Amino acid sequence: MSDAEQATLWAELTSPINLVLVAFIVYLIYKIIQSKFESDIEVPPPPPALPKIRKDFTVAELKEYDGTRPDGRVLLAVNTVIFDVTKGKRFYGPGGPYSAFAGRDATRGLATGQVASSDKDWDDVSNLSPDEVASAKEWEEQFREKYDIVGRLLKPGEQPTNYDDETEDKKSQ
Ligand code: HEM
Repeated sequence: MSDAEQATLWAELTSPINLVLVAFIVYLIYKIIQSKFESDIEVPPPPPALPKIRKDFTVAELKEYDGTRPDGRVLLAVNTVIFDVTKGKRFYGPGGPYSAFAGRDATRGLATGQVASSDKDWDDVSNLSPDEVASAKEWEEQFREKYDIVGRLLKPGEQPTNYDDETEDKKSQ
């Protein structure tokens, strides 16, 4: 390469537009590396799932599982089926939009579209309209697809089922 060619190449490399482009590329590379580094730090591993439980609860016993226990477990009941909704804690946990259902019989609220806590000792929901009953059933089906079944909500005087020697395929019933 002649001196003249070298001088032209140098002039081109150091032209303002090229310097701006180089600076921009360096900045982009810096941002990419920085975002990779940050995402490594900011995404914590998901918390380990709680051990599954299989047990029937009275309304009073269920109340304890509103997400405020140290283990953070959240249970709720729909149509007397109790679900472990801990993985939906952002919905039902303390301060969540549906925390009123946590640890409660959510049947009436889900059926009538009201996010409200049931404070009854037992709600037999027999005065719901057919549409409301259908709506509660739909919610139950949705929960069956998404969450584990824990057991049944016990009517006053009803005895809990012993699930100790239950096989895997019976658990979803
Ligand atoms: C303006 C009205 C409402 C809006 C905009 C709304 C919006 C939402 C949204 C965006 C989600 C999250 C869905 C997802 O990420 O999977 C959700 C979940 C939920 N909504 Fe609503 N909602 C409304 C009213 C209601 C009402 C009236 C009820 C029942 C009384 C209700 C019960 C629920 C429940 C139980 C969940 C959680 C479902 C689950 O565990 O996967 N919502 N809602």
